[in-house]
This record gives sequence, structure tokens and C-alpha cells, in this order.
Amino acid sequence: MIPHVDGRKDEQEEDHIPFAIDSPKNVKWYDLILLNRPLRIVVVVLIVAIVLPVLMYRYIFFPTLELAPTDGLSMGSCVVARDARLPCGKESVPLEECHPQCCYDHSNNLCYHRYPARFSYLLREEWAERVNMTPRSLSLPYGSSSSIRNIRLSINEVSASHLTLTFHHSVDIIGRRIHEKNYNYEVMRPELNIIVSSDQGVIFNTARGPLIASENIWELTFKLTDDTLYGLGEIPLEPGTVKVIYNHKGGISSIPLIFAKLNGSYHGLLIDTMAPTEVIVRRDNQLVLRSLTDFGLKLHLFVGPEPADIMRDVMKTIKVKKNLEYWMLGAHICREAVHDDPLEDLKTFLRTASFQEIPFDSHCGSLPIVFDTQCNSDMVNMVNKGAHLVKSGGKKYIPQISPYIKYMPPPSADIDDDDNPTESTNPKQPKTTTMVEDRCFDDEKFDQYIIRDPDSLYPYKGKANGYDVIYPGFSRGSDDFMNAIWNFNTDFDGIILENSWPLDEHEKDFEGMEDYLPYFSGSLEDAFHLVPQWNATRPVRALGRAPGDAVFPGQTYFKTHNDYGNRFSSAFRVIKGSVPTYSSSTWMNGEVIINRQGVPTSWTHLRKELVEASLGGISGQWYWSSPICGDTDDFDKSYQTRLCAKWYMAATYMPMIRIHSKIHERDPLGFVGIDRKHMIKALNRRLSLLPYFYTTLQEGPLLRPMFFQYPSVEELTDLTTQFAVGNDLLIVPNLQPMQTHVHVRMPPGTWYEFWSGLEIFGGVGEAVTMTTTEADFFSLVRGGSIIVMQKESHLTAEMTRLNSRYSLLVALDCDITLTTPSDDEKLTTDSLTSTDDDNTSEDKEITSTTTREEGAAEKGNGQTDDGDSSSQSEEQTVKTCEATGKLFMTDKMSIIIKATARTVTITASGKDFSVFCDSSDAIWAKTVNEIIVFGLDDEKNNYDESRVVKVTIDLCDLMVKDELTYRFLAN
Ligand SMILES: *[C@@H]1O[C@H](CO)[C@@H](O)[C@H](O)[C@H]1NC(C)=O
Ligand SMILES: *[C@@H]1O[C@H](CO)[C@@H](O)[C@H](O)[C@H]1NC(C)=O
Ligand SMILES: *[C@@H]1O[C@H](CO)[C@@H](O)[C@H](O)[C@H]1NC(C)=O
Repeated sequence: MIPHVDGRKDEQEEDHIPFAIDSPKNVKWYDLILLNRPLRIVVVVLIVAIVLPVLMYRYIFFPTLELAPTDGLSMGSCVVARDARLPCGKESVPLEECHPQCCYDHSNNLCYHRYPARFSYLLREEWAERVNMTPRSLSLPYGSSSSIRNIRLSINEVSASHLTLTFHHSVDIIGRRIHEKNYNYEVMRPELNIIVSSDQGVIFNTARGPLIASENIWELTFKLTDDTLYGLGEIPLEPGTVKVIYNHKGGISSIPLIFAKLNGSYHGLLIDTMAPTEVIVRRDNQLVLRSLTDFGLKLHLFVGPEPADIMRDVMKTIKVKKNLEYWMLGAHICREAVHDDPLEDLKTFLRTASFQEIPFDSHCGSLPIVFDTQCNSDMVNMVNKGAHLVKSGGKKYIPQISPYIKYMPPPSADIDDDDNPTESTNPKQPKTTTMVEDRCFDDEKFDQYIIRDPDSLYPYKGKANGYDVIYPGFSRGSDDFMNAIWNFNTDFDGIILENSWPLDEHEKDFEGMEDYLPYFSGSLEDAFHLVPQWNATRPVRALGRAPGDAVFPGQTYFKTHNDYGNRFSSAFRVIKGSVPTYSSSTWMNGEVIINRQGVPTSWTHLRKELVEASLGGISGQWYWSSPICGDTDDFDKSYQTRLCAKWYMAATYMPMIRIHSKIHERDPLGFVGIDRKHMIKALNRRLSLLPYFYTTLQEGPLLRPMFFQYPSVEELTDLTTQFAVGNDLLIVPNLQPMQTHVHVRMPPGTWYEFWSGLEIFGGVGEAVTMTTTEADFFSLVRGGSIIVMQKESHLTAEMTRLNSRYSLLVALDCDITLTTPSDDEKLTTDSLTSTDDDNTSEDKEITSTTTREEGAAEKGNGQTDDGDSSSQSEEQTVKTCEATGKLFMTDKMSIIIKATARTVTITASGKDFSVFCDSSDAIWAKTVNEIIVFGLDDEKNNYDESRVVKVTIDLCDLMVKDELTYRFLAN
């Protein structure tokens, strides 16, 4: 065929395709594709790559033949990237158990939600507080559960930076609206989807994932960020993590707060559900909440943008109470009796500890307190005497109390189960037959306060430390009961509520839990293990009920389990109103101090304690007590002594510390030689730093993760190898046996090695390798800060505070700027240390700028470039140094310290001089006896890296002078 060049080509010539090139105007789009060979291939490839898999997914991955939904809503697709798949009910199940409306991945046997999820709720009209939402599907992927028909979403605008989302089915939850806020939200309909955004972008998005509401299971999925998450005891919170919010030995102690990083800013999410809740972090950062609740789900969102902003909002939410007393920063020691005579043990300990100069502030007395149904007057006596011994030894008495009651069946019940009482008796207790007069527990009267068996006929019996126990419910209005079980006539300075999850070591069987609960998983099982059986019941007291009447079965125990520790601590206020309360188990409670308990002794757990304490602190729980060297029975002195010594060093920087011994002694007296020396030294170092800790804790947490302190330094945010201690210290612990090096990732600013003054050079985020030894704990101090220390340690924190003279550690931050000298300033060639000798108002050092590198070979260099110096001598470098620090004494008195390269200036802020000047009322020392300066030029140092001067500054002079100036460099 001859090619035409014919403009009049029409449709019928379409089979002459090759020649259509000549008349591009007539070419249809499909012609273009078919004509073009490469394009043809592309199309085929596309079909093979996309359409076929889609069809395959359709027909292979759908468990049932797909019919378009009759409700005219999204059909949902099973083509979901593997990482983005959300578990539909139980994830790893055979095909038969996967709900027909879910998708199934045959190759991995996984059941997952469609996208958008089928199990969701629908809004028939615009969202408002009172608008009901209806389930899209009544049947659910949780056994025979079915959806609750009407639920609501309440959005409460708490403040400009804090809002809550509550999914519920009650009628009286109504959120409020405010005008000025840093967020906005959109509730999409008809298929519910919620998007909350703030300045940094979208901070919360349900992303059309599932929302399931049914009896005992509510599920919600959402995404906070594509970037990093932190929280729930993890830095960072890695995809694949599953956490359970259900207080138990070994669980998380901080509130369930998650920090999310997004585009350089941070926002926070606090999970506020009292019911047991599983939090699953999926691979693409979607969070799945599964809560065994009937009430619903409540989430707090904090917009940040800094972690510190989130912390402040959270602290308001959990109502943090500030009640730090100085002695609380000292060590607390408790030895559970292992010998027959705890009182004698205590005497020996107190004597030896004082002789060996082991500093500690509080002690638990002769033995931890456990309530008892028997009178056990020996025990009561011992506790009272122990308390007396502790106090006369000059220490605070802080009893450790468990919530349960050691149980012996009442005498009448003896006949039935003859062998039981002996079996269950604590071996240490003499085996006596139960006499009526031995019993100090009015069974009939107190019946109504005790948690009951699932069938609610009898009190629920658990096991703790080898004996049978029963659990008071600690409901409101149990004052009489509390007064009756507290038989001790001793005063105390604080209390540690231990085992307050509460502990129950009774064997439990979780077979067939699916018959009772729609959802149960391995991680929930772990959490349910060492606490009272989930289906025990809370007693309901019928007011005015006669003794002996039936006790009405109340709520199933597990729903309020998380609140148990809170109820215990508020019930305890009956006995003594306001003393510092430490508790092993709290829930959204800013009033009590966290008492970490159940910490195994291992290197892993030492690091974990630092992570947990730092996360706890920035979640608003600044008062956080951690056991040194763990507190479980798994400690083996024969090979873990070094670990223990290192733990003491780490404990120098923990907010609060506890030393707990049971079978194995963990206090320094339990060790010998160099290890004991290291431990005592670490305790003394802690004492010397307490003024700084106390000051820091007035305004913020002590131990802080890097992402909190340096939120915008990308290289630092995910680190758990170093922590900030307040604003001015940084610790880089070597937490591996025999570790000889640490890598410091440099934060912004100037940093000095804390104990030597060596300046560490490195760009921000750069790793600098430093050598360290086993006996060391690498720490840095920030240039620009002044740390007030008290190095002369005494036997308690309070005595040290009063009697030890102050050392001021001045870490200078120096700026070198170029200026043109004024006429009257004459420069000599080697003028590094020159000029203005006697003018104290400006402490500047002026150097001629013949561009020298870091002041090396100062004097020599000055003369080398004689030729150039005339042109440059008009410019000088001026080195300006400064540092500031503060010592908080009381609300009415702080000491402010400022320093330059030559002087230290001290002023008082406040009028209450009696706290350090009044000889009878003083609680603080009044003399400064040492100034240590880091950051001076080498020739001004009288030590390798620092200048140390002995001084005598009487702070009481501030009563008559506005400021005290001390010049530590003559010129
Ligand atoms: C990140 O922040 C910048 C401005 O700070 C903004 O322009 C950008 O859109 C943000 N990116 C995202 C993903 O939100
Ligand atoms: C309580 O739960 C256990 C399983 O943990 C079960 O064996 C028992 O039958 C339940 N009791 C009642 C009364 O439901
Ligand atoms: C220090 O400088 C100020 C003004 O700059 C001046 O008034 C004062 O007299 C100087 N002091 C001495 C001791 O030279």
C-alpha cells in the first residue's frame, strides 16, 4: 500500500492504522495507546500488575462472594497494603473464624478489616452532641457479640490546647464549646470519620477504620502521626508493641500517655478508660484500642506543640499535687524480716548503718505491715516498737502496707475444712488453732466491705506471699472499717502502699475465657494473672442493712480494677490525713507518688527503669520512686554485685529511691569492699546534688528523655542512651557489664564533663566517644549553668541540707564576638588577658584577632603576623562568659547566683531569711565554701580543667547587702 498524505482521512480508514500518524488530529486516545508499541506494553503490564491482583484479591481473599452492600455505603476493599491491615477481631485465625465481612489473607492466615472498615457507625444527620450513631453492622467479629444500637460521640473542648473525645451510650455526657482554640475537628458523615487538626497538621484521624461498640468490647482505631510515637514505657513506641492498661506487677506505672511527633512538633493522647484496655501499635503507626468496657472510650488530645506543653495540660487533667518535702529525696530503706527477731535485726541495722555512715532518710520499721483477721498482738507490738526505733534513730518512719487482709477462716468454719487452715498459714506463724478471742475481725459486720467470689456468696480468697488473703473493696464510706483494721498506735511520716494492684498469686485458669468475654488475648492474660480473679465481684453495701443479710452482688471486679490503688489510698486518709503517699498502683492520679515495684534485677531492667522514670516524669508524675537494684527475689549477689553498684550510680539521678531487701540484702551493708564503697559514694553524691534536684523539681521533672529536652534536634529524640537531669545535667550511663566507652550525642550548647570540667567538643547531634570505667557514671554539665552542691554529706538529706557548706559549680558559657575597639582601649600584641583590669562591671576578655585557632599558642602567635596586624588591629575578639543558677529554699526564699568570667554574684529572692540565718529555725546551710569554675582559659585553671577556689561567703550578709560579689580571678 502506498502511503497517502491525505487530509480527508476518515473513520473507515481506521484499519490503515500505521499511516494515521500523518493526520494526528484524527487520532483517538485509544488509537494512541494501541498504536504505540511501548505504550501497549505498558498497558498490558498495568493490567497484569494492578487489575489482575485486584480481581484476585476480590475473589481469592474474600471469604464469601461479594455483594454490593444494600445500604448504598462504601463497599470497602480488601486491597490494603500489608502494613496497613487492621486485625478484624482475632487476627490469626482459620478462615472459618474470620467474620464474613472481614478480609482474609490466605497465605498468612490473617483476618483483617476492609478499608474503609465495615464495622463502623453511621451518622444520619450532621454530628452534634446529642445525635445518635447507628452501627453499620449488627453482627461483629467478636463471637456472638452484637453492636450497641445507639452510641454518641461527645467532643469536649477543655482548653485551647486540650480536647476530649468520648464514645459512649449515656445521655448525660455533653461536651462544651470554647471560642479560642488551637485545633479544629471535622466529623464526617454518613460513615463516621473524625479528623482533628492543629497548626502542625492532622493530629488525630480515625482514617475510616473500625469503631466497634458492644458489651464488654469497644474498639477504636486511629492514627496520630506517621512519624515517631513515645510513651507507655517505651522510647520510641515501636510498631508491633502491645501494651495492656491493667495495673499489675510488672506493668506500666505511668499514666497511659502517648507523645506523637509530627512535622517537628508534638501532640499527646491520653487513654482514659478505667476498664482493661489493650493498645496495639500497628506497623504503620495505627493504634488499635480494645477495651473490655461497657461505658465507652474516652481519649484526651493535647495539641502541644512542645512535649512540655503536653505535660502541663496533662498535669491539670490528673490534678497533680505538689507536696515535695526534702527528706523524700533521700533513700528509703526497707528490709523484710527473714529472721525470727525483726526488731533485733532492725536495731543492728540502724546501729551499723550509722557507724558505716550510710545515708538514708526513711525506713519501713521492723517489718512491712499486713492486716490480719487474727489479733496477732505480737505483730502489732513489733510494728509499734520498730516505728519507735526508726524515729529515735533520727529517720522518718514510712510503713509499707499491703491492701489485703491475711485470712484465717472464722472458728465455726474450721469444722468443715480441717486441713485448710494449717496449709494456708504462714509458716512463720505459730500454728495455733483459731480461738474466738484471737479473732480481731468481725466477719458479719465487715462482710459487706470485702470483694466477693464470682458467685458472690463468700469473700474472694486470694494468695499473697504464701498465705490466704481477702481483699477489702475500699469503697467510699468504709471509715469504720479502716479504723478497725488499723490497730497500730503509731504515727507515721508517709506511707508506701505496696502490692496495691492488688497482688494475688492464686493460680488462675484462663481456659475458655471466650465463653465469658468477647475478646481475650495473651497480653490480657499476662495482666490478669497476678491480680484478683477478673470475675470476682465488688460488694454493694445496702445502707441500713442488718448484719447477716445477703450482700448484693455488685459490679464485676475487673471493670474497676484499675481504680483499686486509688481507692486504697483515699481510704487510708481516714487514718492519717495528709502524708506523702507512695503507691504501686494508681490510675490517672496526680496526688500520689509512684512506687515502682516488682522490678527484676537485670541490666535490661536498669535501663528500663531510667526510661520509665523519665517518661513518668514528663507525663506529669515528677515524684517517682524506683527500687535500687530491683526488688524481686531473683537477685543473685554472686554475679550481680557490679550491676547493683551501677544501679546505685544511676540512682544518684533518679527522682526518688528505695532500697528493698527481702531474702537478699540490697542495702550497702549487704556488700563488702570496693562495691560497698561505690554504693555509699553514690548515695553521698546524690545527697550533694539534692539542692539542684530540689530546685529542679519545683518547676519540672528531674529525669527527662532527650525528646522532651531537645524536641527539635532530630538526632537526639529517639535516644535512650542518655538522659537530661533537669536543664543543666546530662547523664550518659554505661549500662553494660565491662563497658569502657560511651557515645555522647551532643546536645546544643557548651558541655563539660561533670566531675572534671573537661570541655566536650562536638557539633549538635554528633556522637563523641568518651572513655569511662565501671566505677564511673558519665555525666555532663551545661555551660551557662551554676549547680549548687552540698558535698559534706551527713546521715540524712535534711541534716546535709542544714549542715553542709555549699559548693558552687560554675560552668561558663562563653561567647566570642568580633568588635571594633574604642579609641581609649590600647591593645598590646599579646593582649589575651589584657585591659580594664579594675573595671568590674564588664567582665570581658579582649583578644586581638590575628585569626588564631581556639586560642592555641597564644603568646607565640601574637607576633608572627606583624605585617597584617596593622590592618586587623582595629578588630578584637571579645570573650563574654556568663552562667546563672538558682537554689530554691522555700516558697519565700531562693538564692540567685550569676557569674561572669571573673566574678560570682549572689542575690536573694524573697524575704524569709530565717530559713538559713535563724539559728533555731534554719533548715538550710548559710555558708559557701567553694567555687569551682569550668570553662576558663587554661592558664587560669589551678586544676587540670577547672579553677577551684576556697572561699567563705556568709549568705546571711544578704540581709544587709543587696548582693554579694566574689571575685574568683584577680585579673
Ligand atoms: C509542616 O509544617 C510546615 C510549616 O511549619 C507546613 O508548611 C507543612 O505543610 C507541614 N507539613 C505537614 C505534613 O503537615
Ligand atoms: C469466673 O472465671 C473463671 C475463668 O477465669 C471461670 O472458670 C469461672 O467459671 C467464672 N465464674 C463465674 C461464676 O462465672
Ligand atoms: C568602670 O566603668 C564605669 C563606666 O564604664 C566607670 O564609671 C567606672 O569609673 C569604672 N571603674 C573603674 C574602677 O575604673
